[in-house]
Amino acid sequence: MPRHVAVIMDGNGRWAGARGLSRLQGHRKGKDSVREVVETAREIGVEVLTLFAFSTENWSRPPSEVKALMKLLRRYCRTELSRMMRYGIRLKVVGNLRRLPPEVLSDLRSVEAETRDNDRMTVVLAVSYGGRQDIVGAARQLARQVRDGELKPEQINESRLAGSLMTAGLPDPDLLIRTSGELRISNFLLWQCAYSELYFTDVAWPDFRRDQFLEAINWYAQRDRRFGRATGELAVEA
Ligand code: FPP
Repeated sequence: MPRHVAVIMDGNGRWAGARGLSRLQGHRKGKDSVREVVETAREIGVEVLTLFAFSTENWSRPPSEVKALMKLLRRYCRTELSRMMRYGIRLKVVGNLRRLPPEVLSDLRSVEAETRDNDRMTVVLAVSYGGRQDIVGAARQLARQVRDGELKPEQINESRLAGSLMTAGLPDPDLLIRTSGELRISNFLLWQCAYSELYFTDVAWPDFRRDQFLEAINWYAQRDRRFGRATGELAVEA
């Protein structure tokens, strides 16, 4: 069982286009998939589920679509809070949040605050998130600590860098899922996915539901994760 599953939820627009619907209708359907995948992940005992809801690059979409996605995020906060409380789900938001409209940020922050002590599962929403920007932010933070004499350059190591990323404290994703056929990481969790198993499916996000999620989990269960070591080494140690 993967502890942490990360998902690039792609294909809402194409799903809608293929059905003569608007892109917004695709995103709305995508919100239903979010609910189903969150519930399934919780049922099977995934500890952390990270969802790429909005990338830094998505700001360059037409303003009407950006506005609609922001509205969907606000609605998500309103409709899912009671479920999160019922099921013990903690929400955490990562990304360049200063770019968000203040009312969206305040809704997200208030769900984070309300769910802070829930401990069954953590849902991480990556909003206005970019992997490179995350690494740049960590580099800046470490540079400031060196400047202020709190840290020596030699003390910068992988765990300190990881601890300066927005995902500090979370395990790295074991499994990264991308829906809708593209074979790219698209600036998602670049540092964190160094050893993740990568699962690509042609299924568009609005059609990615419980069965499709479980299929990805089963696929993961058959992987031989070696982290660069020779076959069998991990088994010998275990
Ligand atoms: C990719 O589809 C999806 C997004 C840019 C946004 C993801 C948003 C949702 C799944 C709905 C809302 C989510 C929450 C958490 C409230 P695309 O538009 O890039 O599809 P395309 O590549 O087919 O155009």
